[in-house]
Amino acid sequence: MTQDKARKKAIRARVAVTGESYTRARRKIAGFPGKTPQPRRVAVFGAGYVGLVAGACFAELGHRVVLCDIQPDRIRLLQAGEVPIFEPGLGDLLAGNKERLSFTLEAQEAVRDAEVVYVCVDTPPTASGDADLSHLWAVIDALKEVRSDHLAALVMKSTVPVGTGERVRAVLHDAGLAHVGYAANPEFTAEGRAVSTFLHPDRVVIGAADDRTARLVTALHEGVDGPVEVMDIPSAEMVKLASNALLATKITFINEIATVCEATGADVETVAKGIGMDPRLGPHFLKAGLGYGGSCFPKDSRALRAMASNNGHPFQLLSAVIEVNELQPRRAIQRLKNELGTLKGRRICLLGMTFKAGTDDMREAPSTVVASRLLAEGADVHCWDPLARPAEVEPWTSTTRHANPAEAMAGADAVIVVTEWPQLNDVDWAAARVTMRNPLIFDGRNLLDPKRMRDTGFTYMSVGRP
Ligand SMILES: NC(=O)c1ccc[n+]([C@@H]2O[C@H](COP(=O)([O-])OP(=O)(O)OC[C@H]3O[C@@H](n4cnc5c(N)ncnc54)[C@H](O)[C@@H]3O)[C@@H](O)[C@H]2O)c1
Repeated sequence: MTQDKARKKAIRARVAVTGESYTRARRKIAGFPGKTPQPRRVAVFGAGYVGLVAGACFAELGHRVVLCDIQPDRIRLLQAGEVPIFEPGLGDLLAGNKERLSFTLEAQEAVRDAEVVYVCVDTPPTASGDADLSHLWAVIDALKEVRSDHLAALVMKSTVPVGTGERVRAVLHDAGLAHVGYAANPEFTAEGRAVSTFLHPDRVVIGAADDRTARLVTALHEGVDGPVEVMDIPSAEMVKLASNALLATKITFINEIATVCEATGADVETVAKGIGMDPRLGPHFLKAGLGYGGSCFPKDSRALRAMASNNGHPFQLLSAVIEVNELQPRRAIQRLKNELGTLKGRRICLLGMTFKAGTDDMREAPSTVVASRLLAEGADVHCWDPLARPAEVEPWTSTTRHANPAEAMAGADAVIVVTEWPQLNDVDWAAARVTMRNPLIFDGRNLLDPKRMRDTGFTYMSVGRP
């Protein structure tokens, strides 16, 4: 038995006995410091939610990482030791691995010594729903110009349509870079838990066309506490899109059940609990609310549908999911309108603006639809959010931002709970009620206790609960 195999066997035995994680057991057994035995030089293009976390985590694993971005402000902040996005644990990771991290605006500088290039640029939706790959091609163009003698692999972490890997490989081949291996290594992170999901993932999917590249990318993840699944490139690309579409479908399914619950007197929270106890179905993503949002589910569902259509298959199930999700926040506005008679001139308070709690990300947040609809109806919209950046909230919504929930609720004709911020459990609702013009709450996340809210004197509405 090789030394490596013997070490792995000993680690697994310790895991079985102690119940420790694989990483912890390995550290205990081998005195392994948590750093990879084979540090690589990695260039990461795109220092956003995905790239910055991946870069920081690779540095934590012992690799030398250069992060390259085209936004001067972002690079300046990072060089000054500041963190441009909110992600728990990210600041500590960046600070703790300073000596292995650098930041640049220059693609040339990033690639010069790199052995592996990671592409983590944004792939936003185009008008047709297809992913916009222009940022990705800009990175490939830079690679073609800046030859690196050391470059062994290009790894795609951005979410891309199936077939992108083959297109990139053809371009590399034509540019005389056929020796550069290619891998698809999609990201399954959940914002708000991105550092922990990178270091302790459910799975690391690596799509590669050759063993050398698959081994190299697998070795980069040495120290990560989760199973690695190696497959072909198109399948790896599809795993990402299909996973997000299935999660979006699950959320939409429970939202549809919630609507039927409202009509029939069942309680969707109780129903979801009962459904989730079946291990074939699981309890996750069964929370009724205002619909899914964020930078991934809406974009990736549309991209998968567009990709299917482009290949002659109308993906009807996904079309229904997308349509139901678009209606979900509008239903909330309609119910509020039914209750208030008109929204014109009403002061409405939104509690939460980000697409979910634990992040500062506003991309495709349900709050954006809710606020725009309210404004279109002539309402005066006020809001509170602990992390959303005002510049992303105010220009398009004209909402008035407040420092705390109590201030935002004062004088309101109705409050809508838009994001499930845990701080809302600590609000003094009785005190807030007396400051409101009309004590009406629409709980778009089923966060609050209906009985308690009604006992406090609120007219309380939520999603799918009697
Ligand atoms: N955010 C998530 O939770 C998440 C999860 C899984 C997958 N993804 C996918 O990962 C990719 C990145 O997502 P994100 O949320 O990090 O996006 P982001 O917008 O936060 O970050 C992308 C970064 O890339 C930079 N960039 C653009 N063109 C560049 C170039 N030519 N060179 C260097 N940098 C460049 C941008 O300035 C930006 O800072 C997308 O394809 C997304 O679908 C995102």
